[in-house]
Amino acid sequence: MTDGRIATARLGTTGPEVGVQGLGCMGMSFAYGPADAKESRATLERALELGVTLFDTADAYGRGENEKFLSPFFRVNRDAVVIATKFALSIPPDEPTRRIIRNDPPYIRQAVEASLKRLDVDVIDLYYMHRRDVNVPIEETVGTMADLVREGKVKHLGLSEVTAGELRAAQAVHPIAAVQSEWSLFSRDIEANVVPAARELGVALVPYSPLGRGFLTGSFTNADKDLTADDVRRQQPRFTGENAAANVALLEPVRTVAEAHGASLGQIALAWVQQQESVHGLPVVPIPGTRKPTRVAENARAATIELTKDELALLEPIAEQVAGDRYADMTFASAGRE
Ligand SMILES: NC(=O)c1ccc[n+]([C@@H]2O[C@H](COP(=O)([O-])OP(=O)(O)OC[C@H]3O[C@@H](n4cnc5c(N)ncnc54)[C@H](OP(=O)(O)O)[C@@H]3O)[C@@H](O)[C@H]2O)c1
Repeated sequence: MTDGRIATARLGTTGPEVGVQGLGCMGMSFAYGPADAKESRATLERALELGVTLFDTADAYGRGENEKFLSPFFRVNRDAVVIATKFALSIPPDEPTRRIIRNDPPYIRQAVEASLKRLDVDVIDLYYMHRRDVNVPIEETVGTMADLVREGKVKHLGLSEVTAGELRAAQAVHPIAAVQSEWSLFSRDIEANVVPAARELGVALVPYSPLGRGFLTGSFTNADKDLTADDVRRQQPRFTGENAAANVALLEPVRTVAEAHGASLGQIALAWVQQQESVHGLPVVPIPGTRKPTRVAENARAATIELTKDELALLEPIAEQVAGDRYADMTFASAGRE
């Protein structure tokens, strides 16, 4: 940290320079219960002051509402922010638990125009395919995304929850700046194939849900009891019932390390993710999500915490003991297709 601002990293060989920690903006409009717009706006401002420059959204978050919510902030700070958004996923209003995935060229073309309009910008800095539609060859999808770069609508390309094979095929069509996949003390499946492929290809990792959707901070212990009826965590097996009860016990080593550093549980969870950069030898820029200015500052401070070898060893066994998958249908994640 210099002048209270976090350090920077480059996303992939050809990607943009960003703060080593980004901000996940999804919860400001979607997924995790009601949000206070004023507090969310203050969170965005505070993030930027701290050197957080990568702001993550998607057209699916609140069916476009999240992109619209962020657009005034982006307009005022256009040169200081790196705007990342995504296409491929939609949620029918009458079926909130259903996910429709499309990767075909006509869909991508209409999706990018709609995102540019809602964001009210001329160009998207980092455009991700949010989910893989296995019915469309990835070369065709990335070929269309590459056309968007040539046309000046998009600057850099990213892929979310792709397998190592999909990443290799995509990179053969156009440089990929970043893979965005779940990576945390609780979710480490990408370390088997995706992380080594990204390192080899010069692609950065952008871990989403690095706080285990809040569970790793200790802020809730059971989604059924602690969270509102519309909270998506109530659909995720590891946060409910017996699984949640078993998983709370896994936070004990995180608590031990937190006490040694005078830090919060969340800061240790984030420090662990940040440190995967040196463990695996590739740029790692997590995007913790929060709607609170105090929390964004707490999270940014985690970028300066260094865990010792012994502490990493203490945290090592947690992931393999987690009860419950990260999605009810694991084909939604790359690990379900590998
Ligand atoms: N590519 C994908 O498929 C995908 C999937 C999921 C998410 N994402 C992206 O990744 C971002 C981050 O993931 P996420 O939001 O799912 O999970 P996360 O970052 O692991 O956790 C977010 C949760 O933790 C809470 N939290 C944050 N900082 C905290 C702190 N210091 N102390 C206590 N609680 C804290 C937040 O509550 P408050 O907001 O109330 O602070 C929120 O409930 C999202 O915003 C989204 O942009 C992408």
